[in-house]
Amino acid sequence: MKLPNGPQMPALLQMLRWISNPMSFMEACAKRYGEIFTIRLDKNSPPLVIVSNPQAQQQILTNDTKELEAPGEMNEEFESLLGKHSVITISGAEHQRQRQLLMPPFHGERMRNYSQVITDVTEQVISQYQIGRPFNIRSATQAITLRVIMQAVFGLYEGPRAEKLQQFLGDLLEKASSRLSVALLYFPALQRDFGPINFWGKQKRLQQEADELIYQEIRERREKADSSRTDILSLLMAARDEAGQPMTDEELRDELVTLLVAGHETTATALAWALYWIHKIPSVRQKLLQELDSLGDNPDPNIIFKLPYLNAVCSETLRIYPVGILTFPRVVKTPLLLSGYELEPGTVLLGSIYLTHQREDIYPEPKQFKPERFLERQFSAYEYLPFGGGSRRCIGLAFAQLEMKLALVKILSSRELELVNKGEVRPKRRGLVTGPDRPIEMVVTSQRQVKSPILQTTTV
Ligand code: HEM
Repeated sequence: MKLPNGPQMPALLQMLRWISNPMSFMEACAKRYGEIFTIRLDKNSPPLVIVSNPQAQQQILTNDTKELEAPGEMNEEFESLLGKHSVITISGAEHQRQRQLLMPPFHGERMRNYSQVITDVTEQVISQYQIGRPFNIRSATQAITLRVIMQAVFGLYEGPRAEKLQQFLGDLLEKASSRLSVALLYFPALQRDFGPINFWGKQKRLQQEADELIYQEIRERREKADSSRTDILSLLMAARDEAGQPMTDEELRDELVTLLVAGHETTATALAWALYWIHKIPSVRQKLLQELDSLGDNPDPNIIFKLPYLNAVCSETLRIYPVGILTFPRVVKTPLLLSGYELEPGTVLLGSIYLTHQREDIYPEPKQFKPERFLERQFSAYEYLPFGGGSRRCIGLAFAQLEMKLALVKILSSRELELVNKGEVRPKRRGLVTGPDRPIEMVVTSQRQVKSPILQTTTV
């Protein structure tokens, strides 16, 4: 078997380039070796074949339970944080079972329950920022998405335990996102706990304290069952698999942490990027405000969700710098012909969401932020895939889109904001997701009144 070509430099050097800037490393490889190439990050692990061609993405994602599999063990770097029973770290039938239990809270009607929470939390957070005082927009969007996901997961959840848990999770995720922590994830030997001053050790202890609070909550809810609750934890506790079995406490803990982690940092980063682009390019902001002002006061979340230009802005935000740059690994089970290469069982495949989204043939001038491209044509699920696809497609897709749209509408229609520094911001690995390479400072310049749609019509 001949693997696709790829860089010949030692694995350690490839690993260092990967950790420091995976986007530029992938772009350099694609330029030199084309739309399928092989990288080696560790001499003891299998090489990774990276693809960016939509046909290959399709072949992988539509096949990932037949000739291919999507083993959770390949995501073991997440295990120390998410646990052994997380949907992200399990495979096969167990993975399917857990997905079936997890999906209902993220479906259609249920989404409506979260609209008011998203709008209220956004207002609470944004009202803390005073006119004329610069702030880091990512801190603001993180505060929004952490509170929203906490409320979606636990329901109305107040008091010292809720506050403590939110504090722990905020700290934990901030630490998990640091560069040092990511390096440690890749070098498991460094993860041993050397005592309280050790970085990894501190993280572990924070995690144990957060876990204890989550287990306390689960125990209390089992003792005082309340069938009227519609939060995700209540729905998961009531859910039964095909054999009529409920989730165990460990499974519940792992899935709750998975949802809190997967649903917080990702959406916060996407929202921060969206606000950056909207305020960087005046014509984008202007068109968006025109669309929003046509809605009047208190628009219906269902109408917001379908607004064409808002949708185009959110889509382009996740195209240009996708928060998740790769799909989870898929492994070849039976010999597979992919892009002209015969791949043997055991070969590890990664779909590069970033490279596919940067293809000039699909997205002309790919480095330009142009929401209009999403109004002018439709892209297939393998040309545009910010949420992955196949058996591991993002569970929170609709939740994340709803949150982005409602939070943006709330912020833009109630505040005038400006970027403090209009310079270019580039993407950079920020822990488990890809975010801005420097803090994006913004400032509220004034309150904003929604323009009356009637006045608008008469002035046009
Ligand atoms: C803008 C926000 C988000 C982006 C860009 C994003 C992206 C992704 C991507 C690329 C994957 C891997 C898919 C694959 O390998 O095929 C994924 C998986 C996942 N996402 Fe998201 N995500 C976002 C928000 C959320 C939210 C809000 C939640 C939950 C509340 C969530 C929960 C998950 C889970 C549980 C998985 C693992 C699914 C599995 O392994 O079966 N994500 N996401």
